[in-house]
Amino acid sequence: MFPPPTFPSATPSAPPAPGVPATSDSLSRWSGELATRLPNHGLPGSFYNDPDLYQIDLEAIWYKEWVFAGHDAEILEAGEYITIQLGAYPIILIRGRDGEVRAFHNVCRHRGFKICDAPKGKVKRRLACPYHQWTYDINDGSLSFARDFNKEEGFSKEHYSLKPVALERAGGYMFINVAEEPRPFTEGGALDRYLAPFQLEKQAKVAHQTNHVLKGNWKMVWENNRQRTNACCKHASKPNTHRPNHNTTLAQPTAKLTGSPTTSSLSDFLPSFLSA
Ligand code: FES
Repeated sequence: MFPPPTFPSATPSAPPAPGVPATSDSLSRWSGELATRLPNHGLPGSFYNDPDLYQIDLEAIWYKEWVFAGHDAEILEAGEYITIQLGAYPIILIRGRDGEVRAFHNVCRHRGFKICDAPKGKVKRRLACPYHQWTYDINDGSLSFARDFNKEEGFSKEHYSLKPVALERAGGYMFINVAEEPRPFTEGGALDRYLAPFQLEKQAKVAHQTNHVLKGNWKMVWENNRQRTNACCKHASKPNTHRPNHNTTLAQPTAKLTGSPTTSSLSDFLPSFLSA
């Protein structure tokens, strides 16, 4: 005879992100390192390889900002889904029977198992956790079936819906934000203005998909992508879409730095506690 099942936690907040929260000591250390950066040079090396600073990146940028997650055209039919991993958060975007796309934490409310492991797929009406087969409605993430718990006194299925993630769509692009209180999605207007004539959400088709897993810090990837030097040698046909100062970014010299370098050009996009 098995003991009665223990109820899982029904706390209403989103799953916490594992990691070490930034301390004021570590923040002042990083601010000091940032002040050594020369204008038009890359960041100090630790900004690309220090695990503590990576955690700050996640918390201050990736867990607070709107992040591109996929295209409408990838999940046109009811039950089609894609999954992504945003730092510590596994996320699923799925189109409901009502035609709406919604995003949820891809984490079962029973014992935290990842519900959908595949990068994309299609289900009929429900998402089923592979561990103990709890199932969730694709329309709103509500718990439909909870093995061993359905008839337990005091167990309320409405407390165990999938946790929603904020989602916005614009011009056929889908964006998510895992913050508990996401800032307003203000970028959508510009995207809609330029892309609406193409009706990507209705007419685009995914012809081919390839993934590049780059073993490096995300800032290094972005900087390489944005520098014009790359475009002239490796991608000569690439239109010139770069801001002028991105042509001249240099690696940080290893020699001891002198003078009083300014950080003003970084203050546009760094979290305020680093650029202050
Ligand atoms: S972890 Fe038990 S059903 Fe998902």
